[in-house]
Amino acid sequence: MQVSDGLDKTPSWKTVPPLQKESLPLLVVQGLSKRFEGHDLWKNVSFTLHASETVSICGASGSGKSTLLFAIGGLETVQSGSIVFQGKPIIGGENASIQGIGYIFQQYHLIEELTVRENIQYPLWVQTRTRAVPNCWEEIIETLGLESLLDRLPTHLSGGEQQRVVIARTLLTQPTLLLADEPTGSLDEATGARVMELLLQTCRLMHTGLILVTHSVAFSKQTDRQMILKGGSLHEP
Ligand SMILES: Nc1ncnc2c1ncn2[C@@H]1O[C@H](COP(=O)(O)OP(=O)(O)O)[C@@H](O)[C@H]1O
Ligand SMILES: [Mg+2]
Repeated sequence: MQVSDGLDKTPSWKTVPPLQKESLPLLVVQGLSKRFEGHDLWKNVSFTLHASETVSICGASGSGKSTLLFAIGGLETVQSGSIVFQGKPIIGGENASIQGIGYIFQQYHLIEELTVRENIQYPLWVQTRTRAVPNCWEEIIETLGLESLLDRLPTHLSGGEQQRVVIARTLLTQPTLLLADEPTGSLDEATGARVMELLLQTCRLMHTGLILVTHSVAFSKQTDRQMILKGGSLHEP
């Protein structure tokens, strides 16, 4: 099925130039602390992520994983510390997404009045100001099993289907850093495995850095590095 009728195509995603070895770290997090109502959620969180590196964060429910991803993405204030993305500081709490960062969060934020296709295309329109879709469109839509859902409204989708729409929407913007909060949380085992494979494959092809929050030990082992958030500290065993 032709899913991108009438739309131009930009050059293939597989033509991304190789990485410069001496390039800056993608993300440097230093001494980050978050306090809610007099209680430290986490303290002195520091790590560096290089371009195209993938890392997983595991931790008990309530340990502050989502809050940490929000903070890294500039959507949450912190009490102390710094976040530098591609050499530029991220100021928390400005409530605007940052150019180059892709977000797959647990709140889907789909626009109810737009179809699935329009929801997926919307950030691309904003980003490129054209109706062009990248060549990876068909592969992503197909792998996520969204072909037959493109003309539906998000309210007519299950939770797992909405989660796949969010993943497609984010991957198609080809971010430099992808923040994914339990992206397979609403999916069955087989679909979850397929989605994880797509996420990791896309990151490899696009040299995208990935911070993956997951409860799955199996998925966490598929990233280059593993980190654990426990007792308010982020450890790398
Ligand atoms: N705005 C807030 N005010 C007070 N406490 C909050 C706020 N946001 C999150 N929390 C608390 O921080 C803790 C960690 O939340 P969260 O980051 O969602 O953890 P996780 O993703 O690891 O399950 C929870 O106990 C939650 O109640
Ligand atoms: Mg969470």
